[in-house]
Order: sequence, then structure tokens, then C-alpha cells
Amino acid sequence: STLEMEVEQIRKGNFEHFMQKKIHEQPDSLTMTMRGRLIRGREQKAKGILLGGLKDHLKTIRRSRRILFIGCGTSYNAALAARPVVEELSGIPVTMEIASDLLDRQGPIYREDTAIFVSQSGETADTLQALEYAKSNGALCVGITNTVGSAIARGTHCGIHLNAGCEIGVASTKAYTSQIAVIVMLALALGDDSLSTQQRRNAIMDDLYNLPSKVRDVLKLDKHMKELAALLMDEQSLLVFGRGYNYATALECALKVKQVSLMHAEGIVAGDMKHGPLALVDETIPIIVIATRDACLNKQQSVRQQLKARKGRLIVMCTEGDAEFMCPDRRCRIIEVPKVQDCLQPIINIVPLQLLAYHLTVFRGFNVDQPRNLAKSVTTQ
Ligand code: G6P
Repeated sequence: STLEMEVEQIRKGNFEHFMQKKIHEQPDSLTMTMRGRLIRGREQKAKGILLGGLKDHLKTIRRSRRILFIGCGTSYNAALAARPVVEELSGIPVTMEIASDLLDRQGPIYREDTAIFVSQSGETADTLQALEYAKSNGALCVGITNTVGSAIARGTHCGIHLNAGCEIGVASTKAYTSQIAVIVMLALALGDDSLSTQQRRNAIMDDLYNLPSKVRDVLKLDKHMKELAALLMDEQSLLVFGRGYNYATALECALKVKQVSLMHAEGIVAGDMKHGPLALVDETIPIIVIATRDACLNKQQSVRQQLKARKGRLIVMCTEGDAEFMCPDRRCRIIEVPKVQDCLQPIINIVPLQLLAYHLTVFRGFNVDQPRNLAKSVTTQ
């Protein structure tokens, strides 16, 4: 009805689509996710992490033999992005499970495991069924959802809410960045009995504190991403190379591009390039290389050079100030982003790529908020 349409327009505020609104809301959603959890000490110095929903279970999690992350779609990618810092700060082996694949294999789960279920809606059928499976095998089950009272929130032993506010478009955007932030906070909480990592933890906490303003900065790339989308709109396919902390960024960028713009896109772990993906590279196919500063930078620089040697049409995402270094011949497109601690960089890096997927979709004339064949919450198997 016209009334419903008017209400919808009001809820979109100054934006044309919900996806666009949610992308731009991320400084606020991240602030809400961290509120009351990131504890500041004297002189605004980072002090600690408080996760109320976990406090009686942290000891058990620290003692577990393994942590499993279980989720679908974007939620899986968020856990993958935060996996390295969980391993680093907890010292516990972390394995990743796409919920349906765990169920297909009936993979082994034990009492000594902590299974962490990541789901924006808290209602995804596969994730929910994997929860029942893990529970019946005696694992400690932790929920990370954005929906208080959802099936996964109710069915887990303990958990953390995202508090990111509701997400309306089918494609998940602000939930992704809040999920990463929550799992990084979980890693900090798991590691906070260790003196040897104190400096590292403080540096991460300081950057968490600054994250909303850095996200606000990176959102200024909107126009730049729109121009890039205009250039790419008629392409058949897009490759995205990432590694380390930003392997997940590559997967999530490709997922967003596929989901909403209906363009084929593939996220590739750069270290595997020579085992197949390199065969696709010629002067026609556009390739995004994520090469922001972290311990993998030199390896990623060499990937860029090899792709260039095969005449790849490169779009390089690099740290502010690195454009010259990452593209000495100035013959590639550059996306320069602000630097944060390596484990938080995926939160910054995904934002321009979300904008790219959004603008590509609008240019290609597809429905941004309701992509063909897809649902916000997949509650059947
Ligand atoms: C659907 C949505 C995705 C989402 C996935 C998992 O496929 O379209 O955007 O990432 O479900 O949803 P969940 O609510 O479990 O995070």
C-alpha cells in the first residue's frame, strides 16, 4: 500500500536503500556493540573487556581443547576474519565449520570443545541444527547473535549479543563488522590472564576505541567506490585476492558482489594463487588485491607483481600512504584505507568493498535489498 511505502521511505531516512543505510550506520552500530564492554581506565587508557553473558564461562572456554566456529554465509566469514586473533590470544586451536558441512559429515565434537555459533538472525536452520548436534555431543555452546530471544540465543549455554540494531536488507553488512568486533573482544577476554600479551591487548583495545571514527573516515571513499563500480559494472567476473587477516575480507567481498550485484566473483586465498587461480589471469579480468600493512605485506606485494606480470587489471587496496609503493607504475587503481591494528583491519577493509557491491548493484539495475532467490534468514534446509 502507499502507507507502507511511505513508512518504508521514512525508515530509510536520507538513503535510497536499506543496504546503503546500514553500511553508513556502521560507526554507530560498532559503538553500540562495544558500549559497556570496552572498559577505560585512567587517562582514557584501555583497561579490559567485560562480556557479561560469558563471565561464568570464560574459565571453561580457556580450558577447552579446541574452539569451533560454526555459521553460514557472512556470519561464517566474520568468524574466519577473527580466527587469527582468537588463536593468537587464547593459544587454543580454532577450527571453522560451515554449519551444513558439519552436519553433512557429522564431524566429531567432544565435551572438551567450545562450539561458537555465529548468526545474525539467530534463526538459521543449519546453524540451529548444528547447535543441537554439538549440544548432544556435550560441547560448551556459545551464541553470537544480533537477536535477543532468537532460537540460537535461547539454545546456547551462554553468549554475546551484537547489539548492532536490526538489519533489514538481505545482505548482511553492519552485522559483519559487529561480529568481528565481538569475536576480537572475546579473544581479548580469553587472553586477559596472560601478562606476555598485555601490550598487544592494550594496543588492540585502543584501536577498538578509535574504530568508529576510522570507519567514518573510510566511508568517505563512497564516491571513489561509486566511480569504480561504474567502471566494473559490465564485467562478467571479479577476482578478489586476500590472505592472513584479510582472507575473510576477500571471501566476504566476493559474497557481497555475488549476492546483490549478481556478478560472478571469487574470493581467493592469495597463497594458493599458483595452484589454479593464476590460470584465469589475463588483461581482461578485474582483480582486487587486498594488501594493507601487516605481517603478510611483502608476500602480498609479490602476488601483486606476479598478477601484474600476467597483465591483470589490478585494483589494489592498501594502507594510506602506500599507493606509490604498491603501484609504482601508477597503472592500477588504488583504494587507500586508514590503518588500524592488523586484527581489526578486516573491519575497515570490508567497508569500501560493501560500497562497491552496493553501487555495482544499483548500476546493474538489480534489487539491492531483496536479491533474487535469496532470503534474509534461511529457516528451512
Ligand atoms: C542468509 C543471508 C545472509 C546471511 C546468512 C546467515 O544467507 O542472506 O546474509 O549471512 O543467511 O544468516 P545468519 O542470520 O545466520 O547470520
